[in-house]
Amino acid sequence: MIDVNIRNVVEDDFLEISCLAENCNPMSTMTNSVYHLFTKHFKNTSFVVENRSSHEILGFLLGFISQDDPNESYIHLLCMDPILRGKGVSKTLIGMFIQTVSQIGCKKVKLVTKPHNTISIKFYTKMGFKSYPSDKTVEIDGINIQEDYDGHEDDKIIFTKQI
Ligand SMILES: CC(C)(COP(=O)(O)OP(=O)(O)OC[C@H]1O[C@@H](n2cnc3c(N)ncnc32)[C@H](O)[C@@H]1OP(=O)(O)O)[C@@H](O)C(=O)NCCC(=O)NCCS
Repeated sequence: MIDVNIRNVVEDDFLEISCLAENCNPMSTMTNSVYHLFTKHFKNTSFVVENRSSHEILGFLLGFISQDDPNESYIHLLCMDPILRGKGVSKTLIGMFIQTVSQIGCKKVKLVTKPHNTISIKFYTKMGFKSYPSDKTVEIDGINIQEDYDGHEDDKIIFTKQI
């Protein structure tokens, strides 16, 4: 396996993160300004995985702590280069994020994912995230999906993990 180092983001990482995100279908991609916001303003809760010798970025997790509810943290994007998948590196990233936000006092982590992103659903379920039912959700294959969550016909799964 490639020898990797996991570190907090620095501001200049955002363009390389943007390039890698293009390789992370079906994850949503953002404009560069969104990646830049994370690398500038959420350094403590955002991480990159880099090749230890070449320093190429091979994975990232971009997250933050809610301004409105300090008990709640949020993972906006998580992506691993296909060459590094299935090796437990994303699991390590989730662990580092949870350790960071729990030390600051967070009690839960939230994120949203697309109903057709079956790999991400399996991954987050393995990581102990749950999709809770509500009057706005429909259950398909044991997963609760919130219809029109991000607008018309843009359904999402809201995953939560108590930490
Ligand atoms: C989802 C994603 C981040 C998983 O990354 P990964 O580095 O391959 O995951 P890990 O190797 O750390 O796997 C952790 C656990 O999830 C499980 N898992 C990962 N991929 C899986 C798959 N395709 N099918 C079933 N289980 C899977 C692993 O079996 C492992 O379980 P274990 O701890 O019991 O061994 C990666 O597939 C990816 O980047 N996908 C594209 C981007 C995306 O959709 N991101 C999520 C939405 S923001």
